[in-house]
Amino acid sequence: MPSLLKLDNLHIKVEGNEIIKGLDLEIAEGEVHAIMGPNGSGKSTLAYTLMGRPGYEVTQGKIIFKGEDITEMEPEKRAQKGLFLSFQYPVAVPGVTVASFLMTVLQSLSKTGNGRFAELRKNFRKNFKENMTQLKVDPSFATRYLNDGFSGGEKKRIEILQMMTLQPQLAILDETDSGLDIDALKIVSEGVSRYINPERGVLCITHYQRILNHLKPDFVHILTQGKIIASGGPELALQLESEGYKAFGIVEETRGTI
Ligand SMILES: Nc1ncnc2c1ncn2[C@@H]1O[C@H](COP(=O)(O)OP(=O)(O)OP(=O)(O)O)[C@@H](O)[C@H]1O
Ligand SMILES: [Mg+2]
Repeated sequence: MPSLLKLDNLHIKVEGNEIIKGLDLEIAEGEVHAIMGPNGSGKSTLAYTLMGRPGYEVTQGKIIFKGEDITEMEPEKRAQKGLFLSFQYPVAVPGVTVASFLMTVLQSLSKTGNGRFAELRKNFRKNFKENMTQLKVDPSFATRYLNDGFSGGEKKRIEILQMMTLQPQLAILDETDSGLDIDALKIVSEGVSRYINPERGVLCITHYQRILNHLKPDFVHILTQGKIIASGGPELALQLESEGYKAFGIVEETRGTI
């Protein structure tokens, strides 16, 4: 399978502190990877850096996406190329409805003449309706404002709606499962599962094994102190759930600062 994302000895600094300290990861088309790790181990830092968030500096190594070095690329360009990040803490935008927000994102991505987004824009209404049905989202969602007091779980569904609207080739989901009730977790993760096809990949950052029952990752990685210290199949997540981080030699003192 062709490679989607390749990270080779990646080092990342934030505010002068090295947070990611030599990380290797390769995701091929059609694969689901999960990253688990203690609080403060650098998971979100990695996700933000992949999207090109200002302030996250790659000091060594490269980010290769679909064979192209995107290490210094603007965030919007990365999105146009097919990268997507769902946020751990979704933002509330005042005075903008869910539907118009998604439409605006599509519009801005299609501005540079990217035919894929123009096509998605054309089919927005139809796709949006279908996606809302699939995620069991009430149709009134579309006309509610983004800062309109959505519950934590509802915000997470909006993130997945956003993913379904933009149809990225690599979706990075940062704790999409946290704060979801059991039914919502199933609906959301089934939505993501259905989204995966042989050309798409998913990088799912999570603390819990439960979402992986639905998402069925091909690979599970354990990140601590800015490095992947173990990689394996879904059994790794099960082992972590039953034995804790101690089984991987991670003890309280070596954890992050949070
Ligand atoms: N802007 C920043 N300035 C200084 N330190 C930062 C900044 N952002 C992150 N860090 C530090 O980097 C480390 C990794 O943080 P990160 O948010 O990546 O962890 P995480 O693995 O996502 O944790 P969690 O599981 O709690 O979400 C932490 O020690 C954090 O305090
Ligand atoms: Mg995080």
